[in-house]
Amino acid sequence: MLHMADYVHARMILSLLVFPIFQASWSQGQAVPAIFVFGDSFVDVGNNNYLPLSLAKANFPHNGIDFPAHIATGRFSNGKNIADFIAEKVGLPSSPPYLSLGSASGVSYLTGVNFASGGAGILNPKNPLDTQSVPLCKQVQQYLEVQQGLTQHLGSSGAQKHLSKSLFFISFGSNDILAYSGSSDLRMTPLQEYVAQMATTLKAQLKTIYVHGARKFVVVGLPPIGCCPSQRITNTTRGCRDDSNTWTLLFNDALASLLQELKSELGNMTYSYGHSYPIVKSFIENPAAHGFREVKAACCGLGDLNAQIACLPVSQHCSNRGDHLFWDLFHPTEAAAGLYVDYIYDGPSQYASPINVRQLTAI
Ligand SMILES: *[C@@H]1O[C@H](CO)[C@@H](O)[C@H](O)[C@H]1NC(C)=O
Ligand SMILES: *[C@@H]1O[C@H](CO)[C@@H](O)[C@H](O)[C@H]1NC(C)=O
Repeated sequence: MLHMADYVHARMILSLLVFPIFQASWSQGQAVPAIFVFGDSFVDVGNNNYLPLSLAKANFPHNGIDFPAHIATGRFSNGKNIADFIAEKVGLPSSPPYLSLGSASGVSYLTGVNFASGGAGILNPKNPLDTQSVPLCKQVQQYLEVQQGLTQHLGSSGAQKHLSKSLFFISFGSNDILAYSGSSDLRMTPLQEYVAQMATTLKAQLKTIYVHGARKFVVVGLPPIGCCPSQRITNTTRGCRDDSNTWTLLFNDALASLLQELKSELGNMTYSYGHSYPIVKSFIENPAAHGFREVKAACCGLGDLNAQIACLPVSQHCSNRGDHLFWDLFHPTEAAAGLYVDYIYDGPSQYASPINVRQLTAI
């Protein structure tokens, strides 16, 4: 396996030497027309602001402290999140939150829509009434409305073509694993069975999205959930929680298999699977090589590792946000999100497979 520092170095050389030659052949014609984002708080860009009863919100300081104009938008970050960086890579504006669009028409969907909602899960075990977040099944229903709007606007074959070239970004599973970790009721279900339920449900929803036009999927696996500050403070040594990490790896395996199955079942599906676990693990194990100095404590919060109290207006926040891995007790800083997207966009196959996101956009 390539050492991380070598990899970064090799990539710099590659982009200097090779990239300008190939860039011309990947121009306009093959740029993706839109990005549709499904997921949880890693990629929510403000949907939860529109859920009056939800406590899973980030539309207050110190969130957004490094966002343009220093405003809190509902992103669980000091600045941009993963969805923003993916859009930047392909030269699109960030896809707007679906719930901000009201009774919009097809034209406002043209460059994509973001359905992601903080706290959302695949199985939705803790929020059966959908008051706290928009779960996967509901995000997919919302997409079907968007697809209809686009069909009215572009015509059936126009919309089909538009969607088949667009990226469908999927980030799900963290909240299901955290719910399992936090609930002795859920743990009455054996882990294997719980993870199998997650995979089956996700697979069916991805199939629905495919049937309604999607062809290019970017699906990201889970980072080491047991290493986020909220989990570390439950370990007396402040090390990572082994159990949560084991559950995370089990889900990631199921996710990788379900993507292979889908590809063989659905003739024209293509995908890039982002290996979040080894990417983030390398940040934690080798911080300096990635420009980090603090990979355990949250930047914003209160108490032990700044993780006993969430990032609220009363919480403290660090000034050196560029060298922290975690913004708050669960979420990455803007710096970490940007670096992570570099890895799945351009990285070698141990970080994005069977192809990376750049290759997916070029198909
Ligand atoms: C806590 O962290 C240590 C490493 O510091 C690890 O060996 C131990 O297994 C962890 N405990 C739990 C309960 O995960
Ligand atoms: C794949 O796409 C091609 C071209 O659009 C089409 O002709 C073919 O029927 C599709 N195959 C499947 C299995 O959907």
